[in-house]
Amino acid sequence: MNPRLGLVHLYIVEFSDCLDASLLREYEKLLSPDEIVRQQSLTIDQVRVRNVISRAFVRTVLSHHAPIHPREWRFTTNGHGKPAICNEHGAAARIAFNLSHTREAAVMAVSIDRLVGIDIESSCVNLELCESARIFSALELSALGTLRPDKRREHFLEYWTLKESYLKARGTGLSTPLYKIAFDLAVPGAISAQMAPVLNDRPDQWNFRLFETQNGTVLALCAARNGVPMETVHRRIIPLRGLWPMTFKTKRSDEAGRPPESHRRR
Ligand SMILES: CC(C)(COP(=O)(O)OP(=O)(O)OC[C@H]1O[C@@H](n2cnc3c(N)ncnc32)[C@H](O)[C@@H]1OP(=O)(O)O)[C@@H](O)C(=O)NCCC(=O)NCCS
Repeated sequence: MNPRLGLVHLYIVEFSDCLDASLLREYEKLLSPDEIVRQQSLTIDQVRVRNVISRAFVRTVLSHHAPIHPREWRFTTNGHGKPAICNEHGAAARIAFNLSHTREAAVMAVSIDRLVGIDIESSCVNLELCESARIFSALELSALGTLRPDKRREHFLEYWTLKESYLKARGTGLSTPLYKIAFDLAVPGAISAQMAPVLNDRPDQWNFRLFETQNGTVLALCAARNGVPMETVHRRIIPLRGLWPMTFKTKRSDEAGRPPESHRRR
């Protein structure tokens, strides 16, 4: 079995690294006609800037995984809006990716032949708004009820990002009843999950990880298991300028208790 199939590549771009006007103009030149239409429809300057950086981010990262120019990537979306590559080049067709952003940064997961979902949330999100039986399972609500306020907030964020990463890996959007997947975070460093039959899925089909970025932002990754142990490789990027190895701290893993995952620097 090819060990590269076990790799999930995680990339982060900090928007503040990309605000140079000439760089933003270079990013605009990478946009496809439909991306230009979307870009022109955005009326808030900061949103426009974040959007063009995100588009350049996706395109330049993908070009590190297949011999295709950043301008040449073509995308399609499923019925729930999940983007996928539609270039016919053999190497491109096997790439799966997913994107998530906050106001400050965007992250991307890239893998070969395995579905991935990623979610990043900054800790200033008002999680109390989501303390709802439509989102959290009875198990999760009961676990949250036993926690001190600071731990409660931390676990809220962890449940939220894990659920979003799962939903984004499947690409089923809000049609997935989030309270039907129950994460158990009782064991420090560990993640386990239960899925109700209605999801037509099993937890052992997926790998879950929770990471923390250098400024304390929480990041969840969900990746389909493909028979090869999952490893993650982490990089910071300024699209069209450079790529650097880095390490996100692993907060939790569904393989906690096994030998620690090595974050290889490449
Ligand atoms: C897109 C969705 C999956 C997540 O949106 P989000 O958390 O606001 O946004 P993120 O920054 O994490 O991700 C957005 C990116 O995901 C990708 N995306 C869009 N639809 C997607 C889907 N159905 N599945 C996977 N990825 C999707 C896109 O690349 C999008 O970025 P882009 O529009 O710049 O291309 C959407 O279903 C949603 O709004 N979810 C909210 C669900 C909720 O209520 N959660 C409560 C807490 S558990």
